[in-house]
Amino acid sequence: MRRSGSILSGAAARRLPERAPDGSIRRAENQSRTGEAVADVKRVVVLVSGHGSNLQALLDAAAEPASGVAVVLVLADRPGAHGLERARRARVDTAVVRPADHPDRRSFDLALRDLVAAARPDVVCLAGFMRILGPEFVRAFPGRVLNTHPSLLPAFRGAHAVREALAYGVQVTGCTVHLVDEEVDHGPVLFQSAVPVEPGDDEDRLHERIKQQEHRLLPLAVRLLAEGRVRVEGRRAQLVTAEEVSR
Ligand code: GRF
Repeated sequence: MRRSGSILSGAAARRLPERAPDGSIRRAENQSRTGEAVADVKRVVVLVSGHGSNLQALLDAAAEPASGVAVVLVLADRPGAHGLERARRARVDTAVVRPADHPDRRSFDLALRDLVAAARPDVVCLAGFMRILGPEFVRAFPGRVLNTHPSLLPAFRGAHAVREALAYGVQVTGCTVHLVDEEVDHGPVLFQSAVPVEPGDDEDRLHERIKQQEHRLLPLAVRLLAEGRVRVEGRRAQLVTAEEVSR
């Protein structure tokens, strides 16, 4: 099926889980054998461009019985993104929005925004999505868009963070999971993890070790944000306890 420059997978024909009045969803797998609802499940939309190892970490975490989150849609900016294959294997709906199908960046952003909004996400997660999202997109999901970046921000923003950190000769780099605002690689930081540069590292080897940290932190950040446990004041993102969420 093709809608305004986007390609929805056949799986999209399946109905997305029902949404409860508080905005969360319940799904059949979330019921105990006696039929009693176990927990509300928060909806996550993931945007990818490539390999999708971070998406895989999110899918694996969501598959845990008590995760409380479900990946309901995976969106890519190119049909060849391997992340789409991972999503299909996990029986998650997929869609592709290609910049080439849109006259300008704004209309690409709007198409993406509309597809994401239609999936009614509690959290939108950029997991190796290699496009800059414009204000129309970011403003549609205030405080709900997460990104992971392979450097200790604010060092080495942009698409070649690992290569540039190596070229600079740093001894320690790492990853940053942060909320997305209207500037690139800039929003409030949720988690960072340091990764030492080892003798003989090349870009791929160093990036693999950085990704191991991202795979740990990104699912955690998604879950905490979905649970409403992230409070933001200015540039500072703070975690609150589950008890504080209900206050
Ligand atoms: C990650 O390191 C992410 O930080 C960066 O791109 C990489 C994506 O890796 N933006 P993968 O596609 O999740 O394997």
